[in-house]
Amino acid sequence: MHVNDAIVGRQSIRAFDRSRGVSRAVIDRILKVASRAPSGSNIQPWHVWVASGDARDAIANACHARHMAGDAGEWEYHYYPVNWREPYLARRRATGWGLYGLLGIERGDKAGMKHQHGRNYLFFDAPVGLFFTIDRDMELGGWLDCGMFIQSVMLAARGEGLETCPQAAFCAYHDTVTSLLGVPETQQLICGMSLGYPLDGAEVNGFRTSREPVERFTVFVDQPVGGR
Ligand SMILES: Cc1cc2nc3c(=O)[nH]c(=O)nc-3n(C[C@H](O)[C@H](O)[C@H](O)COP(=O)(O)O)c2cc1C
Repeated sequence: MHVNDAIVGRQSIRAFDRSRGVSRAVIDRILKVASRAPSGSNIQPWHVWVASGDARDAIANACHARHMAGDAGEWEYHYYPVNWREPYLARRRATGWGLYGLLGIERGDKAGMKHQHGRNYLFFDAPVGLFFTIDRDMELGGWLDCGMFIQSVMLAARGEGLETCPQAAFCAYHDTVTSLLGVPETQQLICGMSLGYPLDGAEVNGFRTSREPVERFTVFVDQPVGGR
């Protein structure tokens, strides 16, 4: 697979084939490849927790139950802006409405949205859940390193014919997730990720998000503008 195809062809998958498991050898290969991700001074600050079998089910059941009971949970860090503003708000809305629209969930259909959001906690039926943690005493640079590692995991998974959905949603129930996995207090949950084979013919997997054109987020500078 050309590297461009691996990147451009990746999309968040929200319906997995629960009948197709992923072997430990395959997961091992993915993580080995991803571990070639760069990090400042090669500190490699990421930790990965692979949940399968009963551990996966216990996390799914506990988090899904909390969600369905109306427990919003509590995040340990702000993933999203505290005050939403343009242009981010419009992009966020386009993504949410695009996904719900495809699923026939109309605006204002709170039960429908809650049900769909709850699918996060069931790993969208994926057989494996990955969780990424970082030592609490790492700084922002370490989080940057983990981001690159996480993207590398998603791309390496594609090399094995697998797909993923990165999931910050699990951060709401970080206490449940970390206690069931046995993550030490010294580490913090960054996000989860569903991993598996996509379910054939699932409409939700046809959801393709847009991107801003390069000129909207790039400034080419070939003459100095100022100086200090
Ligand atoms: C760190 C991170 C956390 C995310 N959390 C969730 C999540 O909890 N649930 C979900 O359905 N999608 C989640 N997403 C997926 C984004 O919505 C998705 O990447 C974005 O809309 C772009 O779509 P694409 O991944 O299909 O290109 C997350 C993405 C990232 C990078």
